[in-house]
Amino acid sequence: MITKERITAYINSLDKDLPPKLYKLEQEALKNKVPIIRKETQGVIRFLLNLQKPRRILEVGTAIGFSALFMSEYSPRDCKITTIEKVPMRLIEARKNLANKDFPQRDKIQLKEGDAFDILSNLVEAKESYDFIFLDAAKAQYMNFLPNLMKLLEEGGLLITDNVLQDGTVINSRYSITRRDRTIHGRMREYLYTITHMEELETIILPVGDGVSISYKKS
Ligand SMILES: C[S@@+](CC[C@H](N)C(=O)[O-])C[C@H]1O[C@@H](n2cnc3c(N)ncnc32)[C@H](O)[C@@H]1O
Repeated sequence: MITKERITAYINSLDKDLPPKLYKLEQEALKNKVPIIRKETQGVIRFLLNLQKPRRILEVGTAIGFSALFMSEYSPRDCKITTIEKVPMRLIEARKNLANKDFPQRDKIQLKEGDAFDILSNLVEAKESYDFIFLDAAKAQYMNFLPNLMKLLEEGGLLITDNVLQDGTVINSRYSITRRDRTIHGRMREYLYTITHMEELETIILPVGDGVSISYKKS
């Protein structure tokens, strides 16, 4: 946790409660150690959904469908959500949750199964576009996804990226990072440098949860 734990706990205590079914799914995910968006990140996303009122959301990294169902709850009724996942074990749970009648907004969501790198290329080829993109997959691949995400993101759209501060270790010198984590450390720093220096984007990095960046694509 990047900000002081007590402050985070206090802010979270002020947050709105999740609808009961979503709360149950969140608790199940936490119990099974599925890495879903943290409470404080949920607040950022809910706020941005209210502000942006997206028509088309793209999510990279479905896991078991928690964040997709969360976004379906707080986005406009006619919004469509495309979410991508590749790991078979996660897909079994995601299919089940996204078909669960307890989530009345689930019909907004389309699950795409496979590697995001290929699916993003297919979406570009099909000339799809999105006004809200949530990137929450393998951190080391964010840089590889970026060119296609930029093509898919509409002007005036938002690109939200989770886990960008890697529990704060992103600020450490590469020499203090274990050899195993050096590649991911370098790639995340490269990603953050790129999205904060691109002409087309206005980006802010928030030390919320595990670090969230919000990039606005300028007209
Ligand atoms: C942090 S979890 C997503 C959590 C989810 N967004 C939530 O908050 O409920 C990241 C997910 O991305 C998936 N993933 C990682 N790399 C991927 C790739 N190249 N293509 C598709 N899915 C990928 C992982 O299998 C994992 O389930």
